[in-house]
Amino acid sequence: MLSRIKLLVPNLALATRGVATTATRGKIGGDISSVFPSLSGIAPPPLPGRYAELKRLFTAGRERVLAESWEKLLLDLEKETAVVKRFGSDLIPQVEFKDLASLSKAKIKDIKKRGVVVIKNVLPEKEALSMKESLKEHIERNSWAKAFPADSPAVYELYWSPAQRAARAHPSLIASQCFVNSLWHSSLPPSMVDTSMSLPYADRFRIRQPGDAGFALGAHIDGGSVERWEDLEYSLCYEKIWTGRWEEYDAFNADHRVHAMMDLYDGAGSCGVWRSWQGWLSLSTTSPGEGTLLVNPVLKHATAYTILRPFFTPSTPPTISTTPHFPNSVQGACQEFNNSTHPHLRLDDVMTHVPRISPGDYVFWHCDTIHAVDRVHQGASDSSVLYIPAVPWTVESQAYVERQREAERRGVSPEDFPVGVGVEV
Ligand SMILES: *[C@@H]1O[C@H](CO)[C@@H](O)[C@H](O)[C@H]1NC(C)=O
Ligand SMILES: *[C@@H]1O[C@H](CO)[C@@H](O)[C@H](O)[C@H]1NC(C)=O
Repeated sequence: MLSRIKLLVPNLALATRGVATTATRGKIGGDISSVFPSLSGIAPPPLPGRYAELKRLFTAGRERVLAESWEKLLLDLEKETAVVKRFGSDLIPQVEFKDLASLSKAKIKDIKKRGVVVIKNVLPEKEALSMKESLKEHIERNSWAKAFPADSPAVYELYWSPAQRAARAHPSLIASQCFVNSLWHSSLPPSMVDTSMSLPYADRFRIRQPGDAGFALGAHIDGGSVERWEDLEYSLCYEKIWTGRWEEYDAFNADHRVHAMMDLYDGAGSCGVWRSWQGWLSLSTTSPGEGTLLVNPVLKHATAYTILRPFFTPSTPPTISTTPHFPNSVQGACQEFNNSTHPHLRLDDVMTHVPRISPGDYVFWHCDTIHAVDRVHQGASDSSVLYIPAVPWTVESQAYVERQREAERRGVSPEDFPVGVGVEV
């Protein structure tokens, strides 16, 4: 079975790589809406017929074991979702920055189960608030920069402000990143991956004004969509799940993350490094509903559901799906989720706000944690963050960061982001 996948999947991937690699460094002009088919409003084309064959590679000969595993998953998912619905934001793990070195085993286990953590007081409030003022000056100086949404700017295409650079180099932020990276493990040698450290990745920032309803990201995960099945190495991260043993799936095993191809189609939102956790540093006080983050805090179940969902029709009892359709998976986009494509997730019940966040708090969510942003910002003041992920050391990520240095020197967008029309000063 595995060897058949090995033979076939790389061929599928190779056929598309030719297209993917012709792109020059830096993405075609655009903004963050290029990443989300649902934000662009343009209906994506259906997946080609070969995806039916890809699906069959996973399900052939395993129909029974997968169906049993799927039914057990749906039952367990329902129970976990009931707990989330009952406790809401209280379930989101919070820790103090000063306690990171002495967390209990139970707390670590909780963070890994939930796939999200709020680290409080990484920076003093005053320092975080002054970073925001400095960002505003940077926007003034670089008024050519695009922002999304155009009519109510929230996410700016700016990467090299003094505040962003200072935050990326700040020892407390780096210590926080190293902490979340250290929750991962790998049997690979340290010459291939080192989760005890974190590399600096240049990303955008957000200053979202109250009342804004434009920057509403629906439930999604980054790191590609069809790639989770189509790239052999990426699919091996989820081997326990597609062999019918999702209970044993370890979301923190890095072995197959390091060389996974998370972008076969030159996706606008693809990331040239492996982000073990996405994250932002808060520059404002935001309560649930005030333009903040929502997560699905049952990581293992949600990942198992995501991986198995395309193999089954939504009928009861479930039958194996043989169509090329992968629900809400579009080439070149992130994986999106909604009520009709992923009904058992019960998104309305499970998507949970992070609790009230203060300036200087740092929020991380696992690379497979389903997340969303409040549709409407109902608060009275801005909801502002610096996007700064945790990036374990790998050869590939190191190479990206070296190229990123050149973009910094020139004051232009890093290669993962749309080419800007100006030079940052
Ligand atoms: C869910 O997404 C699919 C695919 O993009 C779309 O066709 C459908 O209308 C969406 N359903 C809901 C309830 O938003
Ligand atoms: C999703 O489905 C639930 C239950 O069927 C419904 O109450 C809810 O309004 C739906 N949510 C969206 C965003 O369509």
